[in-house]
Amino acid sequence: MCLNSRLIVAIDTADAGRARALIDSVTPYCGIIKIGLELFSALGPAAFAVAGSHKVFLDLKFHDIPNTVAGAIRSVLPRRPAMLTVHAAGGGKMIAAARRSVETAGGERPILLAVTVLTSLSSDDLAATGVADSASRHVLRLAHLALESGADGLVCSPRELSMLRAEFGAGPTLVVPGIRPKGAIQGDQIRVAFPADAVRAGADYLVVGRPITEAADIGAAAAAIAKEIADEIR
Ligand code: C5P
Repeated sequence: MCLNSRLIVAIDTADAGRARALIDSVTPYCGIIKIGLELFSALGPAAFAVAGSHKVFLDLKFHDIPNTVAGAIRSVLPRRPAMLTVHAAGGGKMIAAARRSVETAGGERPILLAVTVLTSLSSDDLAATGVADSASRHVLRLAHLALESGADGLVCSPRELSMLRAEFGAGPTLVVPGIRPKGAIQGDQIRVAFPADAVRAGADYLVVGRPITEAADIGAAAAAIAKEIADEIR
């Protein structure tokens, strides 16, 4: 049993040994391990072996034509990820194809999450890509598209949680990166929040990477965030 099943730790490293050590350090405190592009690109499906008995959030943020995304999902289903991601910007047909693909999983199927707007992007960054709306208006548009096309939930900024809960209620699974405990370095994340605030605003799961994995005492950092989440839920 872990201290907090709502804490997801992002194991962003290319090194299997370091990944294993990180996972060992955080095991008592988190429910799910996030395998992202860095670890999966380095190890391929062997990344699942590194995660051991942990549930895995496979965050490969698929974004391609519907047929290719559906095939990529079919290819990872035998590894039994608990959650996986596609980019909402891939469009309704791509998300619907992803949903049909996860439905083919035998037993419990993975939760299909759509990434709305990366938490590293500001409204100015979006404008540079041709999106004239604010980040939050764009998130809302992508959230409607994703949920109406078959996504079970969304990856969003903690700052958009209240808006999304007001719009969609308790139904969608909301997963938030961009979590920073008090005193942590923001890094390249722009739309960030404290763990307790994210829980209060309606997050189901909190994804934390560097504030834990780059801490001097990894276990202590994970324990402190897990406790902050647990205190808020109580
Ligand atoms: O180190 P940090 O806590 O910023 O890690 C956040 C993790 O969440 C990274 O693995 C990143 O890929 C992921 N992520 C994100 N923003 C999204 C979706 C996922 O930062 N919108």
